[in-house]
Amino acid sequence: EVLEAAGTVLLPGFVDMHTHLREPGREDAETVRSGSAAAARGGYTAVFAMANTDPVADTAVVTDHVYAQGRMVGLVDVHPVGAVTKGLAGAELAEMGVMAASSASVRLFSDDGHCIADPLIMRRALEYARGLDVLIAQHAEEPRLTEGAVAHEGPTAARLGLAGWPRAAEESIVIRDALLARDAGARVHICHASTAGTVKLLRWAKEQGIDITAEVTPHHLMLDDSRLETYDGLFRVNPPLREVSDARALRAALAEGVVDCVATDHAPHAAQDKCCEFSRARPGMLGLETALGVVAQTMVAPGLLDWRGVAAVMSERPARITGLPDHGRPIEVGETANLTVVDPDSAWTVRGAELASIADNTPYEEFTLPARVRATLLRGRVTCVDGKVRAD
Ligand code: DOR
Ligand code: ZN
Ligand code: ZN
Repeated sequence: EVLEAAGTVLLPGFVDMHTHLREPGREDAETVRSGSAAAARGGYTAVFAMANTDPVADTAVVTDHVYAQGRMVGLVDVHPVGAVTKGLAGAELAEMGVMAASSASVRLFSDDGHCIADPLIMRRALEYARGLDVLIAQHAEEPRLTEGAVAHEGPTAARLGLAGWPRAAEESIVIRDALLARDAGARVHICHASTAGTVKLLRWAKEQGIDITAEVTPHHLMLDDSRLETYDGLFRVNPPLREVSDARALRAALAEGVVDCVATDHAPHAAQDKCCEFSRARPGMLGLETALGVVAQTMVAPGLLDWRGVAAVMSERPARITGLPDHGRPIEVGETANLTVVDPDSAWTVRGAELASIADNTPYEEFTLPARVRATLLRGRVTCVDGKVRAD
């Protein structure tokens, strides 16, 4: 079989360290199967499936199930993320050691969707994680500051009468957890950095030698809260779309490496959960199938990253942060590789109904993106060509 690949860019398979696959519990929005198809179409060969499922992935029973489903589907390596606290309730640590030792070998833990808000619980979790040599990814949101909040606290929310989510809700947890990680001698990862202030704090923490990493989503790179003008629930997300100046700071930070990588926070929601007025819509947006195009538009087109840089932020660094040995590194001759073939000059128009996800809550409906994935190879096997997914 020959893939006509003249003019394409060959990249290491993308790694998404932040995906919501909704299985078990909300298979009407996404399943491991449909989410794996979306991942393959997006150029991903590994995804980390977040723990806020129903039931919550706080036991090896659930993480093993998600892992087995991923293996059965076989389109992308699905790594289950374990919950840090039981039921994501924030009160009691989950059995992280059992999940880490299970067949799924869970390496990443997160209460994403909820913040690990209690500083004592977070401190104990970091110490525990250090002992297990696993990583905690924090959804940085001080809940006392976001009660009822639906949009970034600023002029737009004030004008539209939407309850505001202040930057301090994120930044206070980022600095707190940087200090807790420092004192515990542990690593910590910040999910979906969304403010210019978070960038400054990350820079400071890294200068201190604190073992902190951070991701940014494609939507926080491209979109800002001016999109809320129409009260379209598709633009509701946690953390919220911020201001133009925040998006600009995030793009610069990603180019510089202060923010380490791109993660989608792919968050499928069923139509009835999204098609209501803004304040009642569930937060979250699809991301897997559009991430490369958005990164091409926001980072490559303005010269902030070259394609080597895209490989770094979408594959090498997330692979290193999560400890995937078979991703994001040079390939040995004769090795079956994880690869993504990108057409850098093939604009396409996004339509939610045409995406592989069951849900269609893309915020990029009818957007034209400048680049697309031609093919994805998982250990040498083609999982997707020109949008067509190949199950085996
Ligand atoms: O917008 C979001 N959606 N943010 C989160 O933290 C959770 C996610 C979800 O699960 O839908
Ligand atoms: Zn989150
Ligand atoms: Zn998330």
